[in-house]
Amino acid sequence: MTAENEQALAVYKEKVAAHLSKHRYEHCLRVSDYAVKLAKQNGVDVKEAALAGLVHDYAKERSAADFLEKIDQAKLPASLKKWGNPIWHGVVGAEFVKDELGIKDPAILQAIRLHTTGGGHEEMTTLDKVIFMADYLETGRDFPGVEEARSLTDQSLGQGVFYQLAHTLSYLASKEQVIYPKTFDAYNDWAAYLQK
Ligand SMILES: [Fe+2]
Ligand SMILES: [Fe+2]
Repeated sequence: MTAENEQALAVYKEKVAAHLSKHRYEHCLRVSDYAVKLAKQNGVDVKEAALAGLVHDYAKERSAADFLEKIDQAKLPASLKKWGNPIWHGVVGAEFVKDELGIKDPAILQAIRLHTTGGGHEEMTTLDKVIFMADYLETGRDFPGVEEARSLTDQSLGQGVFYQLAHTLSYLASKEQVIYPKTFDAYNDWAAYLQK
């Protein structure tokens, strides 16, 4: 990145660091770096990818009370209230990013929203896919299959998105955890698109 881009990012780095534990802040830095790599491979604006990656988990450590209040304040659907941090920190987290960091770029805000749910292949922009995959594949990740997922994503961002959706759904089901309907829809949409 250019020095100018680095400087623009530095202001946000301080603010993100102030709201997150050290380990999560470091994850955000790695997501930002991985997003830059994927952005270059896929013709996405590097500056946008770096910033979206940096701030994607900005709201991750807020309390449930904070999220519930923000849902009302931002007039988001009340149905969101029955979900929890794993969904909120993206879908509602984007509102914190907008209000507190002053980031208004709708493309960045959408990438933050979709990182916790995924989205259909027509809904997801290339930036959305880059952030979704950078979060999953950043260099600190070491789940079984991560190398396979990285090389698949290097070949095809869409195949990577589908891989992540499939593995996340099967993981959640194996733990008998609830699954957000949008994530199911995203999985089915990608399966049809990729002719699985
Ligand atoms: Fe996240
Ligand atoms: Fe993350």
